[in-house]
Amino acid sequence: IYGEKRRNARGVNLNIRSQYQPLMDAMGRHMETTYRARPLLAFEVTDAPSRSHEVPSPYDRRQPVGTVQWTTKPQAEQALDAAWDAFPRWEATPVAERAAILRRFADLMETHLAELMALCSREGGKLLTDGIDEIREAVDFCRYYAMRAEELFAEPTRLPGPTGESNELVMGGKGVFAAISPWNFPVAIFCGQVVATAVAGNTVLAKPAEQTSIVAHRVVELLHEAGMPRDVVQLLPGDGPTVGSVLTRDPRLTGVVFTGGTDTAQIINRALAGRDHAPLPTLVAETGGMNAMIVDSTALPEQVVADVIQSAFQSAGQRCSALRVLYLQEDVADRVIEILDGAMAELHVGDPRDLGTDVGPVIDEDARQGLAAHIDRLKGEGRLLAETRLDSAHTGNGTFIAPVAFEIDGIEALEREQFGPVLHIVRYQAGEIDRVIESINARGYGLTFGVHSRNESFADEIAKKVRVGNVYVNRNIIGAVVGVQPFGGQGLSGTGPKAGGPHYLLRFATEKTVTVNT
Ligand code: SER
Repeated sequence: IYGEKRRNARGVNLNIRSQYQPLMDAMGRHMETTYRARPLLAFEVTDAPSRSHEVPSPYDRRQPVGTVQWTTKPQAEQALDAAWDAFPRWEATPVAERAAILRRFADLMETHLAELMALCSREGGKLLTDGIDEIREAVDFCRYYAMRAEELFAEPTRLPGPTGESNELVMGGKGVFAAISPWNFPVAIFCGQVVATAVAGNTVLAKPAEQTSIVAHRVVELLHEAGMPRDVVQLLPGDGPTVGSVLTRDPRLTGVVFTGGTDTAQIINRALAGRDHAPLPTLVAETGGMNAMIVDSTALPEQVVADVIQSAFQSAGQRCSALRVLYLQEDVADRVIEILDGAMAELHVGDPRDLGTDVGPVIDEDARQGLAAHIDRLKGEGRLLAETRLDSAHTGNGTFIAPVAFEIDGIEALEREQFGPVLHIVRYQAGEIDRVIESINARGYGLTFGVHSRNESFADEIAKKVRVGNVYVNRNIIGAVVGVQPFGGQGLSGTGPKAGGPHYLLRFATEKTVTVNT
């Protein structure tokens, strides 16, 4: 049944090709250009430039996107000096001016949609649909944080006091932040971190992921064009051990906003904590997940499968929100697995530039090898339930992993997050639900979570008991919308506060109480 629907859907896809065609035409020339990216700093670079690093495209490693010059240690130190000097002036800039830059930047990103999408496709291996979502989310972050900044920072908050005394709460920036971002949302998360910290009155040193420095470079060029001073937001492409460690060990760095692996967040935390004579740092980290979905016997199997396919395999499973462990109550398990098997057979893995592709490449060879080793191990243990075929004619020169589903005994069997299109399925009996929830909570991660059930009180109760950041009932568990589903986890999944939520900017701000005897 599901296969039939997919085939129809693919027919519709081809019919809407005409709607995508103008955008694809506009992307055209940006799909060919060879880009050169370099550090974008507040000063002229005088030391010898570092070696250029070639950035390959994950769907065809023979086609480089361009080259990136990495930031040297002395440049990173000098960038910190400049950011430190710029901070008081930027903090004193009226928030309306800071917010106006974000709004101009959002408009510019919309104007350059096709180029940014082309770079997301070439560097990040993104499908066209994922590329559109990505730029839209970046634009949403800018406009949402501009609005929140004006609400929070424009006027001091008057507080009650006795006659003859005035009390006010005044908001300010904290200092210099490093924004360390991942490759899986190279525009959206990158922009979200940078504009949030900047609009709150801080200066920012942005270190993009090595794999996606070129699109970050283009984004910062647009941000500067929108009026962001060059000493307020600087771009420091490079590797973690060089750029990241220079910044996080420096006592002048006020804080870090980070999205990436839990292990890296812990390294950053230790580096910040180990500094002598440094102010107590702020660390805002959004890290990994071992996201689960529970399906009870009242759920509709076809709807479950449609949502599982999206949650586990969209963006090749390379979202921190993606579904990793699907718990199926025994009464529906066979039916769901049967439909899932049919649906996975219909998925098309291949070139992200093709509208008929459902699953593009994983980011690089390291990622491919890590996932392949996990898949080989579970296949060797006889755990395979379903898999999508990998057609080597379409995937030969890229780093592709086909969607795959395995049966495992429980979430505790997974040592770590598998960041790709790999789904793990666990069967459970109705009476075991409390134990299931306990084991999910005990695993320590807490990012996204799904429930599929037509029993409202079952869904409500589970939603209350799981310790996670985002619960989704009777739908997929990915694609949080800015200002609608504030995003971020707890425990091993992050520090909070939530990106795209009303409290996010507060974490980058100071509060000063001013009491005057009048
Ligand atoms: N914010 C993304 C989502 O919700 C994940 O990083 O899918």
